[in-house]
Amino acid sequence: MKATQTKPFSPKCFIATLFLSIPFLFFLSQQSFTTTTTTTSNATPGLKIRPGYTSYDTYIKKQLNKTLNPKLRELWKTRDWDRKINVFTSFYNDLKSEKLLKNESKALSIGARMGQEVEALKRVGVSDSIGIDLVPSPPLVMKGDFHHQPFDDETFDFEFSNVFDHALYPDKFVGEIERTLKVGGICVLHVAISRRSDKYSANDLYSIEPLKKLFKRSEFVRVRKVDGFGLDTEVVFRKKR
Ligand SMILES: *[C@@H]1O[C@H](CO)[C@@H](O)[C@H](O)[C@H]1NC(C)=O
Ligand SMILES: *[C@@H]1O[C@H](CO)[C@@H](O)[C@H](O)[C@H]1NC(C)=O
Repeated sequence: MKATQTKPFSPKCFIATLFLSIPFLFFLSQQSFTTTTTTTSNATPGLKIRPGYTSYDTYIKKQLNKTLNPKLRELWKTRDWDRKINVFTSFYNDLKSEKLLKNESKALSIGARMGQEVEALKRVGVSDSIGIDLVPSPPLVMKGDFHHQPFDDETFDFEFSNVFDHALYPDKFVGEIERTLKVGGICVLHVAISRRSDKYSANDLYSIEPLKKLFKRSEFVRVRKVDGFGLDTEVVFRKKR
């Protein structure tokens, strides 16, 4: 068999090929543009995942860096301790007067740091309460990642969190709450809508609409403005029957 004959280089032919390939190159560039935009906007308007987390491991390391910061831990234990407990006690008393939280409720605080929120729950009479955080703080807070809660399905009557902005996977964060809440159970979130949260945040929320979408197995109960340590909005959901 005869090998294909190589033609001598022709400038005309080269230019023609170039022109012919332009539509194809344009098509290719559009394709990759479309793919990039759909993956980065992660399909939930009003909720943006911050870039820069190359893996779950990097994310956990950064979160641990805040949780383990000795200066912050000292502040949480001292200056912040009573102040936070007082504020949370008043939030939980409001929820009790609305019958969203009861003394008999089995309650979970997600991202509980050193346990101020759990202590406040106990002080308002919710004795069966526990917290989870990446770093345990016994006896109030056990070790647990909110993307994979260390509890069985339908364990709690009430779950509270003010660390939604730390969730790298908001759908998992909410999915785990809905999994571990009993039917009829209440979830209360404190989030930042009008201001940007801290540098450890993994997402930014621009309205409560994305939350309503994420809570697939729950009904929206109510929303109100609060003044909660940089977080300005309290949203309540109830797991559907
Ligand atoms: C963790 O925080 C310390 C300061 O507390 C900083 O020096 C260090 O670089 C941080 N490490 C990572 C992995 O971010
Ligand atoms: C709930 O607990 C608080 C604090 O221990 C107590 O003052 C209150 O009477 C209890 N409420 C009910 C309805 O038992």
